[in-house]
Amino acid sequence: MAKYVGVLTSGGDSPGLNAAIRGLGKAAIGQYNMNIMGFKDGFRGLMENRTMPLNERTLSGILTVGGTILGTSRHKPNKMPVGGKNMDMTEVIVGNYHEHHLDALVCMGGGGTQKNAYHLMKQGLNIITLPKTIDNDVWGTDFTFGFDTAMGIATDAIDRLHSTAISHHRIMLVEIMGHNTGWLALGAGLAAGADVILIPEIPYSTEIVAEAILKRTKEGKTFSIVAVAEGAISQQMYKELKEKKEELSEAKQKNDKKNKKDLKEQIAEIEAVQKINTYRLAGNLEKLTRIETRVTILGHLQRGGTPSAADRLLATRLGTMAARCIQKEQFGVMIASAGDTAVPVPLKEIVGKRKNIPPDHPWLKSARALGTCMGDCYDII
Ligand code: F6P
Repeated sequence: MAKYVGVLTSGGDSPGLNAAIRGLGKAAIGQYNMNIMGFKDGFRGLMENRTMPLNERTLSGILTVGGTILGTSRHKPNKMPVGGKNMDMTEVIVGNYHEHHLDALVCMGGGGTQKNAYHLMKQGLNIITLPKTIDNDVWGTDFTFGFDTAMGIATDAIDRLHSTAISHHRIMLVEIMGHNTGWLALGAGLAAGADVILIPEIPYSTEIVAEAILKRTKEGKTFSIVAVAEGAISQQMYKELKEKKEELSEAKQKNDKKNKKDLKEQIAEIEAVQKINTYRLAGNLEKLTRIETRVTILGHLQRGGTPSAADRLLATRLGTMAARCIQKEQFGVMIASAGDTAVPVPLKEIVGKRKNIPPDHPWLKSARALGTCMGDCYDII
């Protein structure tokens, strides 16, 4: 009997989502004779039963289109904003899944989506996920789709900043997305030859960054490019945050309500300051080096536009593999990229984990070998 498949895209949009929907849909329909339908705006659309037909016509012409034809949201099944409150809408979602007689639900998203999909899997739904995010921080896969395109955009931006930095003899800070990991900043920084790369995995010292820039000046280089991951954090702020988080977990253990509330507020304050980290750093570098400094925040530009060839290929490979897994009734898995192959990985093995850049990663070793300042020390690993 023909299978019924639902698909949704959740979390921040990412180049390659449409290529993945197309890969899944075309293989599901053409190869396996399945029926496939989309749910709009992530888990919210599944809860509200807002659907979109996916067929040869709607799947056509979308390979190169950015964003997601299904729309997306960051709403979670168990914390859905309804009537001004966050409600657990899991039961409604499970009901809608059954009402459509679905044999499988494919959820495309980042770390949060994997978690939400796993939650639905535990309610008995047949779930398959695909790893998408420009951040490349999903555990269990070599790469996520969207990352390559965003890295290309950030690389192009740094290339362009070079000529204006050289002309004005300035320090140029460019803030690159990536949430709590530095994959995008490190990848683009290396590809475009940034002089300093700051990533969340390596808390930085402003003094060391200033020293590295002044060393360049002594060598006759009158400009510097600093690639700053949005989650980059100074050593001092990292220490403060760590201490407060430790105190908070102690207060939680003791059920000390008053202290818990105060500590949460203090943590939120530190995090708010971290959000404007790049501007603060620019001001401090200008003071320490006496070199004119400017900031460029790339922001959502990195998520927009046509997906790169690599992302289209990855998304298509993962999408078609998802259709194959549905046919084989292999559920509760994320389709991961492992070298040239697409492999199903049990969701329970990847949920709740984040893929940070390991200290011995080849990209990091290359950056060190080039003499790129990572904000900590100049030693080659
Ligand atoms: O997860 C993708 C991402 O673009 C992150 O790099 C960034 O921190 C976040 O989403 C921005 O989210 P929003 O689109 O909700 O502002």
